[in-house]
Amino acid sequence: MPGEPQRTFYLETFGCQMNVHDSEKVIGTLMSQGYRQVSTVEDADLILYNTCSIRDKAEQKVFHRLADYKKLQAQGKKFGVLGCVAQQEGEKIFERAPHVSMVCGSASYRNLPKMLVQIEAGKQRVTGLDDRKTDECFETEFTARTNPHRGYITIIEGCDKFCAYCVVPFTRGKERSRTSDSVLAEARQMADLGYTEVQLLGQNVNSYKDPAGKKSFAELLAAVAETPGIKRVRFTTSHPRDFGRDIVEAIESVPTLCDHVHLPVQSGSTRVLHAMQRLYNREQYLERIAWMKSAKREISITTDVIVGFPGETEADFEETLSLLDEVGYDGIFAFKYSPRPNTPALHLADPISDQEKSRRLAVLQDKQKQIQMHRNQRHVGQTVEVMVEGKNELRGQWVGRSSQNKVLNFTVQPGGPYPAIGGYARVRTTTSFPNSLLGEMVV
Ligand code: SAH
Ligand code: SF4
Ligand code: F3S
Repeated sequence: MPGEPQRTFYLETFGCQMNVHDSEKVIGTLMSQGYRQVSTVEDADLILYNTCSIRDKAEQKVFHRLADYKKLQAQGKKFGVLGCVAQQEGEKIFERAPHVSMVCGSASYRNLPKMLVQIEAGKQRVTGLDDRKTDECFETEFTARTNPHRGYITIIEGCDKFCAYCVVPFTRGKERSRTSDSVLAEARQMADLGYTEVQLLGQNVNSYKDPAGKKSFAELLAAVAETPGIKRVRFTTSHPRDFGRDIVEAIESVPTLCDHVHLPVQSGSTRVLHAMQRLYNREQYLERIAWMKSAKREISITTDVIVGFPGETEADFEETLSLLDEVGYDGIFAFKYSPRPNTPALHLADPISDQEKSRRLAVLQDKQKQIQMHRNQRHVGQTVEVMVEGKNELRGQWVGRSSQNKVLNFTVQPGGPYPAIGGYARVRTTTSFPNSLLGEMVV
């Protein structure tokens, strides 16, 4: 509005890539409403947290932040809680942190402009909470992507799987997909803007169902990867139950589809998988791994593991360890089980001590480190293409990422030519470490 100083906002994001991308859409939406983003809480009129509640520690972060900055309310600043903690705790947040004016879950972001108007009009408490009924996705033309080369596209939101330990079906609403036409239009638009890498997102990305019935998930993958100008397509996270062979076939036949699959297993014990309500057993999971291992191009495989799920015995845990050996993962994210509100597992007896969970986690991570140390050696001597992500000035090395999602630190011959950030370079690997590779650029 003419004459009025522009309102400002600060936004901090916690949690997964879906949250990171939601924040890009929220930022774009706020900017379209006349707000300007600032980088400190002190400079902002509106302070927003996009929250995660996957484990207790993640959830506590937002309450720490709110307590730290409570005194700023006296200066007229407003606070808003977005995302998974907002949806999970709802109006209880106002009781715990009375200086909060807005609580909004991700399934209600399309109402943000209306909610902002209410806050500006002085309304004390504004809520946007989902009842698992919405069929709509948060599609907006105002996405403020932070990286000019690589960008996210959400293709499916929510989750209907209800694994026994997990808050996501409660925090993100029911499963709903975008039409393949709208996904492809967004990919084309990104390519026109100069993006070369697209990452397709969903809590279970491969449970995608085109509402227009035009494309399967594997067909959509291939179509996005064939968009002129797009050089790399990634997708995360895949659920093993819905992981079809056609996904492997798409990777085999479309070179721009990255040769990396993140396939969370959670446990190597069929008994525990059943208790977790994961909808597959060890053998079925390994069958999917076998499809990938027999692919015409080598596919790197990563996973998520939970240790110490209620009732997990030492024998169950050892089955997880043996699964790591059997699969030979290129990377894992491992977590101690954290009891979560609303989830069925909350009511299970959980006799495993925190100390024992920590021990299992350490044993698992140590084993995986050995596996990665060994597996990464196979890259030594290979030349691969990397997308150049940055430069480590201190070490005089560039940082790139391969199609297999491996981090490659590399040197360049004195005098150049030098790689461009966001561009692509060919790198020959000379040394391997458990978590990265070292190499030199090939001209
Ligand atoms: N949709 C994905 C997972 C999304 S959540 C899938 O089904 O695989 C990301 C990861 O957080 C999960 O894979 C799981 O390993 C971990 N996680 C989820 N809930 C958890 C809990 N209550 N305690 C510990 N880890 C948890
Ligand atoms: Fe959570 Fe399971 Fe859904 Fe993954 S599939 S988001 S672990 S409920
Ligand atoms: Fe966290 Fe919600 Fe993502 S709980 S992991 S931010 S879906």
